[in-house]
Amino acid sequence: MEQTLIQKNTSRFDTIPELPADTFTAPLAKPDHVGLDWLEPKQRVYTAEEHHIWDDLFARQMDILPGRAATAFIEGLKRLDLGKGGVPDFGEMSEELSAITGWEVVPVPMLIPDHVFFWHLANRRFPAGNFIRTRETFDYIQEPDVFHDVFGHVPLLTDPVFADYMEAYGRAGWKALKYNRLKALSALYWYTVEFGLINEADGIKSYGAGILSGPTEAVFAVEAKSPNRIHLDVDRVVRTDYVISDLQPTYFVIDSFEELFAMTVDRDFNDLYESLDPGFTYANSAVLPQDKVYHKGTQEYALRGGAASLAEPV
Ligand SMILES: [Fe+2]
Repeated sequence: MEQTLIQKNTSRFDTIPELPADTFTAPLAKPDHVGLDWLEPKQRVYTAEEHHIWDDLFARQMDILPGRAATAFIEGLKRLDLGKGGVPDFGEMSEELSAITGWEVVPVPMLIPDHVFFWHLANRRFPAGNFIRTRETFDYIQEPDVFHDVFGHVPLLTDPVFADYMEAYGRAGWKALKYNRLKALSALYWYTVEFGLINEADGIKSYGAGILSGPTEAVFAVEAKSPNRIHLDVDRVVRTDYVISDLQPTYFVIDSFEELFAMTVDRDFNDLYESLDPGFTYANSAVLPQDKVYHKGTQEYALRGGAASLAEPV
């Protein structure tokens, strides 16, 4: 039965395309209760304490985000009423979201394999972690939980252009897998979907979910002296290393989601992939002569040792 999900025609995504035999995929152990699509049969039932954790996380972010988060993100939060109390119900949220942009949110048990993640995105389904962090891991968890995935990612899926970008990213993921350029495409995801900044009339704001779902980076990304803020250039970003478990040394800024779409979806990545060197070319703190720099960071935070040294996020 599960085999019917697999098909050979990779230009269509109604079933999971077949991966070339030599494609490397991270060895994630699929729990027995999920199928090849890795979807939970239904969203988990949260305890009262888990709903409180959502409410407390929500309240903490809303003290910080006005004036620092992209307008489209704040509008999306309101349109989907994600602050009405407790962990949102995926079914209700998906009904509202699909009426706006055709996206839905589906529960997954944990991080899922890249090719399955891409397949869901290509079908306008956003896979969201089913679990929520505990009080002990309130400030930071490595694995994306329902707060990061829903609060951080879902509001922008109400924006029609960003919604199209995310679908296109899913399709592009399959091409990157075939070219063995997943790392380059991951850098683009990292510096846009997770840690992107956008120019607005009254200043630079955040739209990346990795920034918006945590209190420290929500301030650091747009106000601190340490990080670089540089206009996004795709050829540059796909060659740039990034930090996974600390504040970013560099953020990339777009003028609009239309600009992001034009720079990525509207160009041919074949030539780009073929021109890349192995690995990353630029350090995550580099400022290059051709960069359009909004702010050249002091890198004080990173130079003082970052989170491991309890450095101030200045
Ligand atoms: Fe994320």
